[in-house]
Amino acid sequence: MTRGNLSSEFLDEVRSKNDIVDIASKYMTLNRRGGNFWACCPFHSEKTPSFSIKQDAQFYKCFGCGESGNVISLVMKMENVDFYTAVEILAKSAGLEMPTEADNAEMAKRKRDRDIAYQIMRATTEFYQDNLKNAPDSPQAQYLKKRGINAEMIEKFKIGASLNFDDLPKHLTKLGFKLDDMIMAGVVARGDYRVYDFYGKRLIFSICNGFGDVVAFSGRSVVESPDRTKYKNTPQSVIFNKSEILFGFNYVRDLKKQNLGLDTIVIVEGHIDVISCHQVGITNTIGCMGTALTTQHARRIKQLVENVILCLDGDSAGANATYKAIDVLKDAGLNVRVVRLEGAKDPDEFIKKFGKANFLDKLSTAIDCVDFVLTDSAKKYDLNSNAGKTKYIKEALNYISKFSTPAEQEIYLSLVQRLVKIPIDALRKSLNTLGHKEVKSKEPEQNVDMVQETLNDNYITESKIMLLSAVLYKKIDNLDEIEILFKGNDELSRLYNYLKQKLNENKEYNVSSLFDNFEINNNSLIDKVINYSFPADDVFANGIKETIARVKLYEIQQEREKLTKAMSQATSSEEKMQYLVKLKELTDLYYKEKK
Ligand code: UTP
Ligand code: MN
Repeated sequence: MTRGNLSSEFLDEVRSKNDIVDIASKYMTLNRRGGNFWACCPFHSEKTPSFSIKQDAQFYKCFGCGESGNVISLVMKMENVDFYTAVEILAKSAGLEMPTEADNAEMAKRKRDRDIAYQIMRATTEFYQDNLKNAPDSPQAQYLKKRGINAEMIEKFKIGASLNFDDLPKHLTKLGFKLDDMIMAGVVARGDYRVYDFYGKRLIFSICNGFGDVVAFSGRSVVESPDRTKYKNTPQSVIFNKSEILFGFNYVRDLKKQNLGLDTIVIVEGHIDVISCHQVGITNTIGCMGTALTTQHARRIKQLVENVILCLDGDSAGANATYKAIDVLKDAGLNVRVVRLEGAKDPDEFIKKFGKANFLDKLSTAIDCVDFVLTDSAKKYDLNSNAGKTKYIKEALNYISKFSTPAEQEIYLSLVQRLVKIPIDALRKSLNTLGHKEVKSKEPEQNVDMVQETLNDNYITESKIMLLSAVLYKKIDNLDEIEILFKGNDELSRLYNYLKQKLNENKEYNVSSLFDNFEINNNSLIDKVINYSFPADDVFANGIKETIARVKLYEIQQEREKLTKAMSQATSSEEKMQYLVKLKELTDLYYKEKK
């Protein structure tokens, strides 16, 4: 069996259910340091660890020998098995059944369903947008006016209106869509006597995936009525997974792509909160849409930034949600700060009441989440009583040991000390008995020599794979910059040209389309492109320029070596001269690039 028989959904599932750290720890002893895990590399012999695993990105790399990959390639190498067998091993350990032929038919159907669902979402979004434009006096349009949402935001967030219950199914039918498909996409529902627009008579907020494709809607009631739910949301569908999607994420992702130094994301609860923030220019804001943040949400955020500010609603539900969100976000390795609003129930109201400047001020004085938890949870206890103190200390120390590095511990301990007035030494001792092991060793220095050493064919291929994967997953879109690397007739160059052609024609390409156009098996480089696991985006962004530069230098060097060899076999001095001229050109180019 080849890689092609395993769907990318199945592989995603296998990867997501097998944490690379868990799997790797079966083969080697891992040490946690500075957010990464380290071990002596299993692929070459060494005494100091240079094999690192980034847990958030689910990716390993050895700085010594340059080997890198994801959990599947790790098992392939450690067990010395092919791709399919490695997946089988991982599926088994996660309790997953391998897909059968019937599953493959199922997969083809899923692909078809997804394509249709996207089309239906696109048509429905346009329909709702047109409704709103053509009915400026509708209650939906009035409501937007009342909430102060301007035309630019209406356009940006693809806000629309459903004016009644019948027009949408009729319109979609006219466009040739089948009723079952409309229901599958979650825009139409079947009642006892008729089919109807699921968001009938509501104001429509479009929810997009990371690429900006609409995958769901939230329909807000614009009439105050106790028997109408405030929001009707698209149920889980083939293209909408609530635990992965964040409102506004696609715009923040665009910001990141523009390289404007995005380093913090603000998380709020409601749609209108997100829109209000964007409207006053705080465009690094996303919304959790009133649901609990999941690990997947956190991972996606971590791909863009290191820092988040939680600014949830001011009520007690918001406070609970804040505590839960801190855990999830911290676990993903994010730096989390917290704002608790007073005098307004949510960011939208705060901005309307106190203005943008005051809101920005709130954000800039957001407090570190451990600080927040330690101070806030102290309020639950009577710190004047011994019993209260003891309970609080236990809770506080647990929290500190869970979430802080040794350096941070000192800071937090002194905070607890101020609250409970117990000598810090005593607190420190108790903390150490909680089983926290102090980590002494340093990360290996990544010196220049080491990096030079990795500049071999493997490194070059690996880099090209990374760059193409970045194009494939739309992490970079300037193809011209890397064109020089893909001038050959090899597999990767062919893939480059394919992607470039699609982009030039403004056509969508996705991973599954590659299987129709290339022979992909578990040895092929394209397979590696598809399965490449990126490090966190910031690491990636910093690394990418350097990678391009180094690969270019390498190619030039290779060319020089070829020429030198050819020159040594030249028969006439004239021929030799020609080689020398070319060599000189290459040398100049080399030093130019090296700058
Ligand atoms: P809110 O009740 O705070 O709504 O819920 P809101 O959008 O901020 O509206 P205003 O400003 O109070 O008028 C916050 C988020 O929770 C989700 C929505 O995503 C909403 O934006 N929610 C809320 C639902 O999904 N369903 C509901 O019935 C209520
Ligand atoms: Mn709200």
